[in-house]
Amino acid sequence: MNAGRPVQAISTIAQAIVEEPEDSRYTRVFANWLTGYRVRGLGESLERALIICFSDKAIFYPPLFPTWLAALEEKASFSFLKEIQEWKSYEEFTQRLRPPAFEKVADDPLMLAGLPVLLSRSPALEKALTYIRRRCLESFVSQPSPGPLPFLSALGLHCFFNEFVFSVSEQEQHLLPKLKDTIESTGFDGTQTPAFAALYSCYRPLFTLTSAEALQSHADTLPLLFQELMKRQVTEPAEEQNIKKEIPALTPIKNAVSQAVRQQYEDNPYPRWHSWPKADASSPQSSQSGGIAILNAGCGTGQSPISTAVLYPCAQITGLDLSLASLAYGIRKAREMGINNIRFVQGDILELGDWNEKFHVIMSGGVLHHLDDPLRGWRNLIKLLKPNGLMKIGLYSERGRQHIVKGQEWVKTSGLPPTEEGIRAFREHVFACDPSDLLKPLADLYVFYSMSNLRDLVFHIKEHRFTCLDLQSMLEQMNMRFLGFHGLPPEIKPEYLKRFPHDAAMTNLENWDKWEQEHPFTFASMYVFWCCRADETVSADLLSSRARHLLPVRGVI
Ligand SMILES: C[S@@+](CC[C@H](N)C(=O)[O-])C[C@H]1O[C@@H](n2cnc3c(N)ncnc32)[C@H](O)[C@@H]1O
Repeated sequence: MNAGRPVQAISTIAQAIVEEPEDSRYTRVFANWLTGYRVRGLGESLERALIICFSDKAIFYPPLFPTWLAALEEKASFSFLKEIQEWKSYEEFTQRLRPPAFEKVADDPLMLAGLPVLLSRSPALEKALTYIRRRCLESFVSQPSPGPLPFLSALGLHCFFNEFVFSVSEQEQHLLPKLKDTIESTGFDGTQTPAFAALYSCYRPLFTLTSAEALQSHADTLPLLFQELMKRQVTEPAEEQNIKKEIPALTPIKNAVSQAVRQQYEDNPYPRWHSWPKADASSPQSSQSGGIAILNAGCGTGQSPISTAVLYPCAQITGLDLSLASLAYGIRKAREMGINNIRFVQGDILELGDWNEKFHVIMSGGVLHHLDDPLRGWRNLIKLLKPNGLMKIGLYSERGRQHIVKGQEWVKTSGLPPTEEGIRAFREHVFACDPSDLLKPLADLYVFYSMSNLRDLVFHIKEHRFTCLDLQSMLEQMNMRFLGFHGLPPEIKPEYLKRFPHDAAMTNLENWDKWEQEHPFTFASMYVFWCCRADETVSADLLSSRARHLLPVRGVI
């Protein structure tokens, strides 16, 4: 890889995975190397390596999607993906994709391995899956089985992961109650009902069925993918309901905006996620965090504090959020991953004024811009910072989000509600847009492909955006010092230093404002930066011995 021959490197590591499928070092490296690539032409070893990766929960799956899709597209049975966008209607699809073509798609092992764990980010694949799902539903009335159980289970897992974001036609809306009645009235008969239930799971979660328990009690005699489906759509949601009852409430939630924001994330906990890399016990940072207290304010579904806990297993981490549904998701995932150094609590950042705990590091990514009063919330967090502590903050950029603001404006003008139907209608509009339409680029975003992500993106109840000069002014008002941006692509540093040679620390926000005028998408996802109290020198202890790895402010400190 370092020699600049990525395809050869990926091919070699794929071969190593096939030869030693149990060795997770290979799968991790493979997943890392595939990030940003869409590898083609590696044939069977790539396919087998991908399938092995999808069963390794210790790797992060999203970067595998482009290569997974490319590997499917190379197969003759999936060649229709290249044409399907030209097909005018569902009827044309049923004319063209006739048996046994559908069976080949449904039985494909690569399809069955990736579908349950990946979000599809391909309009063509989404169209195919939506039509195939409809075909299965329409056939349930006339056929003994609506489709193969493993495929329907894999599709049900996929649809649950994207929170049923795919369009549902009127014909399907009409058939769904019938399917539900059939499942509920026939009970469990060992052959037919599981396939009907799996089909139903592609539209609605199985925990909404009264017969879910009966089905679950027989699941262990059924294919593994069906068992996984029952786990994710019945067992885990039930577990989360129980967990909610145990979560301590740290503060009341009185502010009207906080209440509305909470409701959004109770309905659509964000983000949904499956896997995260396990810490390598031998990595230096793993043992260097004893005693550090970290607050993750607005921790969502736990992905952020859990990834911190994975890297710093000796740190004491607190995850705080408004949404019980999000916290319960995080607690379930932490337990599943054997992580026990996170305490999850419910609370409103705006009400934290009297809390008397103190933290070495406070992180709040993508949260303060959803508060009624971001500055008041930020001040509350600063009060919780130990002397010489550090903060990592993520805030939306006004310039970086202009394309998203277009989507938000369209949603407001069209009066679409933030419901499943409203979100699906928005997606249909974007898919149908002319390529030159300003909304069209939204369909290229990962977040366009699931309900909670898209709700967060364009249907949010409250969103503030800032410029670098706003950051500077807020930091000054709070007597805080900007320490630098986190996570910038490596190519930016030399360019920035060429443009602003006198700002070697890269911490002058006026310069960054100019930079952003010239490169408006630098902070398209958000500004993520570190800061500390202006009158403090950052703790030598924090910097040099313990949490150095918490400070990826490259070249700044
Ligand atoms: C966009 S999500 C980000 C989640 C998480 N930080 C991440 O990056 O994965 C915003 C989260 O902030 C939480 N939040 C918003 N306002 C809050 C407040 N006033 N107090 C606590 N949490 C809040 C929401 O409930 C939601 O889970």
